[in-house]
Amino acid sequence: MRETINVPQAEIERQREFMRLVEKLPERPHSYHIVSMGCQMNERDSETVAGMLEAMGMARQPVREAADLILYNTCCVRENAENKALGNVIWLKELKKDRPELMICVGGCMTQEKGMAAMMKQRYPFIDLVYGTHNLYKLPEYIYRVITEKHPVVEVMDIDGEVVEGLPERRKKHFSAFVNIMYGCDNFCTYCIVPYVRGRERSREPEAILAECVRLQDEGAQEIMLLGQNVNSYRGGGAAFAELLYRVDRLGIPRIRFMTSHPKDLSDELIHAYGELKHLMPQLHLPVQAGSDEILRRMNRRYTREHYLELVRRLRGVCPDIGLTSDIIVGFPGETQAQFEETMSLVREVRYDAAYTFIYSPRTGTPAAKMPDDTPYEVKSERIQRLIELQQAISLEVLEKQVGTRQRVLVEAASTRDAGSVGGKTPRGHMVNFPGGPELIGTFADVEIVSAGRNTLRGRRIIQDG
Ligand code: SAH
Ligand code: SF4
Ligand code: F3S
Repeated sequence: MRETINVPQAEIERQREFMRLVEKLPERPHSYHIVSMGCQMNERDSETVAGMLEAMGMARQPVREAADLILYNTCCVRENAENKALGNVIWLKELKKDRPELMICVGGCMTQEKGMAAMMKQRYPFIDLVYGTHNLYKLPEYIYRVITEKHPVVEVMDIDGEVVEGLPERRKKHFSAFVNIMYGCDNFCTYCIVPYVRGRERSREPEAILAECVRLQDEGAQEIMLLGQNVNSYRGGGAAFAELLYRVDRLGIPRIRFMTSHPKDLSDELIHAYGELKHLMPQLHLPVQAGSDEILRRMNRRYTREHYLELVRRLRGVCPDIGLTSDIIVGFPGETQAQFEETMSLVREVRYDAAYTFIYSPRTGTPAAKMPDDTPYEVKSERIQRLIELQQAISLEVLEKQVGTRQRVLVEAASTRDAGSVGGKTPRGHMVNFPGGPELIGTFADVEIVSAGRNTLRGRRIIQDG
């Protein structure tokens, strides 16, 4: 973990000056549309981008084709994410034929891949701006240059290790907010590209995090999600993650969650926190990736199956009702049928509330991409299918157990499926839909669970009389 080095405030002021300059340019874009791909890290970055674009006088345009500026915040964690991003961007070329004044910007993890920016510059000259994950704060300057110099800007920086504070932001929801606590990743799991595109681990100062939480609380936040690729290795101002969590808990925001946790760094203190902290929700995303020790070793995960299962037992000992979720990779190079069966048996043993399952995707530059892999794709497909079916059956059983219980739900949105219904999450993170109007969004509702579906619960609101 690196020491925290903040980008100097003078540089942030300089960027704010560019925001004012762009706002005054008559030929600048007047509306923007952001497409955010990938994980919560990117979603949070998109909120910062939105804040900067609005400070430049642009208004959010919900219809992509109607926006003056379209920005793709890309992901490259798997090949299909990358293909999707590139496919979308190439399609924009057609749009630009009809509307030459359209400004196209591409940033995020994909542009940070080795050789990618150069390739984009050469093959997609219709893209006005390509930037990376380490220079997002320079967006105002780059947009100013694109408009005034009238040619594309391609700038991706290799240096990393800095933390940026004090940029504008436009949050998606006021009642539930993401708060970054650290950036980057030093774990180098052999399949993963994230450490290469997001850089080395660095933590924000606890004071900056707490100040942000207090501000969000004043603005009405009911829920905070602390974000980092590996929150357990947080170290800001000498404080470990569990310490930070205790401090955030004392603020009194009703719900605290965090992600993602690496099992190798899950501390005793953090496990205890589940038994002690009032606002920490009984939910933990603890990706296991695989159930075989040999595969875990080759993934460089640095824990064993038994160690992981022991963590699960201890977490449940402290917090019996904790909802655990996971990420699982199927078909890692050389995974045998027997090793895959170990993943199946681990899933049966842990009984996750939900699991995100992926077929291994080779990423250029990672060690696993060079490992021999002779398992045919069809076999990997069959394996993941079996795993998905197993997890779906478990998820349904877990959800069915909730029927008849009363749950406090933080209402997030109107239901897209049932008119006149809204949806939100229970403390454990289960999604519940129940009849109610949009005025409930952002508030807590007490709900009785009446039935369980595959991924969601249905409920009935309990109106307390008297
Ligand atoms: N920092 C988090 C999230 C990383 S990306 C963590 O460590 O859990 C989210 C998930 O994508 C990972 O947990 C992993 O399951 C999956 N993933 C990463 N690289 C992958 C690859 N090359 N192929 C398939 N899945 C991958
Ligand atoms: Fe990737 Fe592993 Fe870091 Fe997660 S912990 S981001 S899977 S390298
Ligand atoms: Fe994708 Fe980057 Fe997140 S690669 S998963 S958007 S950190």
